[in-house]
Amino acid sequence: MGIFDGRRIVLGVTGGIAAYKAVEVCRRLVDAGAHVSPILTKGAEKFIGRATFDALASEKVQTSLWEEEHPIPHTNLGQKADLILVCPATARLLSDYRTGRSADLLTATLLATRAPVIVCPAMHTEMWEQPSVQENIKELIQRGVEIVGPEEGRLAGGDDGAGRLSDPVSIVAAVERVLNSGLNSQIQDFAGLQVLVSAGGTKEPICPVRYIGNRSSGKQGHAIAIEAATRGAVVTCVTTEPSQSPQHPHLRVVAVETADEMAQAVFSQAAKSDLVIMAAAVADFTPVTKSDKKIKKSEEGLEIHLEPTVDILASLGSSHNGKQILVGFAAETNDLEENAKKKLNTKGVDLIVANDVSEANVGFNHDTNAAVLFDSTGRRTELPLADKRHIAQAILDIALKLRVDKHREIGETQ
Ligand code: CTP
Repeated sequence: MGIFDGRRIVLGVTGGIAAYKAVEVCRRLVDAGAHVSPILTKGAEKFIGRATFDALASEKVQTSLWEEEHPIPHTNLGQKADLILVCPATARLLSDYRTGRSADLLTATLLATRAPVIVCPAMHTEMWEQPSVQENIKELIQRGVEIVGPEEGRLAGGDDGAGRLSDPVSIVAAVERVLNSGLNSQIQDFAGLQVLVSAGGTKEPICPVRYIGNRSSGKQGHAIAIEAATRGAVVTCVTTEPSQSPQHPHLRVVAVETADEMAQAVFSQAAKSDLVIMAAAVADFTPVTKSDKKIKKSEEGLEIHLEPTVDILASLGSSHNGKQILVGFAAETNDLEENAKKKLNTKGVDLIVANDVSEANVGFNHDTNAAVLFDSTGRRTELPLADKRHIAQAILDIALKLRVDKHREIGETQ
């Protein structure tokens, strides 16, 4: 039995001197049980022969959109893949992939897949350090592509520097990590659990036209909802952004707008939920009176009186049953850790996910996030910048562990 038994990996090889190392990567993947479908670009064929991959991989090399047996080889490969590995990746490949340019069979396959993608760049230092190349890398990371390497070391032509392809052992280790992560694996560790997630920013109406809102996009809450559903949970997602919510047979979307509507929806579901995750940015105040007609412009200015909304999370925290896991968020612009720890206690939650929303690429409306997590046992976990689905995955891992520990504790004291 190999660690990759039954997993289908498309191995894309582009034209760089490091292409010869893809041979060893291919052999290691096949030895570990993977079904490897190799794609060579025209450039790759200048460096390495088809016959080598034909002999080592699980099927014959494919190179073109037009000459293969299957009439639409890119969708066939892209849809069946559990993972696509591009090794090595040239600057051209990074640029085409970033801009969505379907230039050949490999780039078309990258466009035609929902599988996770690992890209291993290799090129000369000058090319690697070009701002255009670095921008492409940054953008791909933000979209959730895993970048492995490059490393410092000897390059073609006797040069030394950054740009050398990572060694095959590290590349295969990255494949194992990505395949085993909850993102695309068949792990069903939330099977049998009911999960309630809130997402988005509430909108507090002033009049039929205007509202008081905040910058939350709902992306982090939605990522948690789909991750939990993928891992087997029955999920209710109470969201102010229902049109942006992902879809899944086990995911029920409840559309709300105001803090009050969110409170009603959450309270009606909370008691039967094993985990409640309040990722929504709930308004702390709402206008005392809402005009039923559009408020007209006037010279005197406008005063709006606000009253506090119900703190949904604190209310759940003061009343939830001992077995439920309650997760809150803390959106901060200063004194992140201190404020987060305070919220962990005052809101009575098991886990608080704190993010500094003033930092670049973190929090509101970004596809990426970074967070520090504090749990009620005093543990602190740092999640570095990653796409929101990866952050969701880590939050759920920790929440599930807290649940297991809590249930064990309850079992021991009974
Ligand atoms: N929250 C809630 N109900 C509210 C306000 C916040 O359930 N009326 C929840 C949020 O969903 C989040 C947590 O409480 O999980 C913290 O929200 P945050 O906006 O960071 O803090 P606040 O409690 O609003 O406090 P402050 O604005 O003073 O930082």
